[in-house]
Amino acid sequence: MNEEISNIIEDIVLKDPEKIVFSNPSGSQSDGFIKIIINKIVLKDIPTYQIEQYTEKQVFHRNISCDLLKDALIDLFEKPYRQVNVFAERYQMELRIGKKGNYHLTRKHIDTSEPRIRATGNNRQKNHIIKEGMAVPALIELGVFTPEQKVKNSMQDKFRQINRFTEFIDDCLRDFHKEKINIIDFGCGKSYLTFIVYHYLKEIRGIEPDIVGLDLKSDVIKKCNDLAGKFGYNGLRFEKGDINGFRAPFDKVDMVLTLHACDTATDYALYNAINWGADKILSVPCCQHEINGQIRSERFTALTKYGLIKERFSSLVTDAIRGCMLEYSGYRTDLMEFVDIEHSPKNVLIRAQKHNISMEKRKKALSEARNLCEEFGLDQTLMRLILKDTQEK
Ligand SMILES: C[S@@+](CC[C@H](N)C(=O)[O-])C[C@H]1O[C@@H](n2cnc3c(N)ncnc32)[C@H](O)[C@@H]1O
Repeated sequence: MNEEISNIIEDIVLKDPEKIVFSNPSGSQSDGFIKIIINKIVLKDIPTYQIEQYTEKQVFHRNISCDLLKDALIDLFEKPYRQVNVFAERYQMELRIGKKGNYHLTRKHIDTSEPRIRATGNNRQKNHIIKEGMAVPALIELGVFTPEQKVKNSMQDKFRQINRFTEFIDDCLRDFHKEKINIIDFGCGKSYLTFIVYHYLKEIRGIEPDIVGLDLKSDVIKKCNDLAGKFGYNGLRFEKGDINGFRAPFDKVDMVLTLHACDTATDYALYNAINWGADKILSVPCCQHEINGQIRSERFTALTKYGLIKERFSSLVTDAIRGCMLEYSGYRTDLMEFVDIEHSPKNVLIRAQKHNISMEKRKKALSEARNLCEEFGLDQTLMRLILKDTQEK
């Protein structure tokens, strides 16, 4: 088998296909089958490939586990089918093979707003971007997947979080048609999210990512750089540093991410993103201690006298102020539920996209944030940083 076909097979497996069709056989070496269809199905909760082999009058079925797809493809590519069509959730490929072995390959990345081809079966997998059985080697090394590509029990919540985050990114990038994207993941920690985002962009969306993960901890930074090197992820690197005062590593920052960056680290990340004019910001904050330590009220003592209510209210007030300050800074902003609370109590996601927002609306957002600060005696970091620059009173 020539190297190019081997690469095409690798590529097909990486795309986690839902359906592959081999058709248009020539000669007698196709075992008498006129067409082969491979469908991804879910049998008793286990993703499986079902191979349908068609003769003129009959169809024969056999099932194989996902990790045997590559072997099955190698076998089928040895047979003289002249046409191969591959359908994945966000990707389609057509390969036409000529009589002399020459071939013509067309690929199409599918806009995420188009209907998707889904795996069928009694027990469908949830509509996740990253699924069990998918070949994402970094997830095994990071300890999210077992070597059999199943989610480890202890990592179910984290898996859900990074998948959900990636779905938000997917949604955010509907209108993104450039070939390259520059992203910073602030407070990347062990970088489960960072590696998944890289995989998603490069392998599933076909966008060339340049991603920097930043964290204070030198041991995790070293580990993550080693891992990126091991997998040849050229567009992924990790730096040790403080978010506060970090200088943009790209001329143009397209997207800033934070997942559970502690307390005011989220504020410095948002502030950097705003200052750099990042087009898109996705941020799931964590442990909003700053406001919890300040909050007081003459009138609304019911909100501050119970520890639990005070803590939750402080978090909500913090994120509401952040939302307003992003709007004030020219970002269309939504605060959304990230994952169900049972999978993380820190489940608010701030989604902000640079937008042409009228000055009237921006000022209104600022006054809404001010009202909260006045009512509850607050000095909130993101607000302070932004107002210091604009010298608003
Ligand atoms: C709760 S962990 C989240 C890690 C990762 N994003 C995740 O969700 O798995 C928060 C991370 O933020 C990092 N961090 C906190 N403050 C930071 C700062 N000022 N600059 C850089 N990293 C920071 C911590 O070292 C830690 O690794």
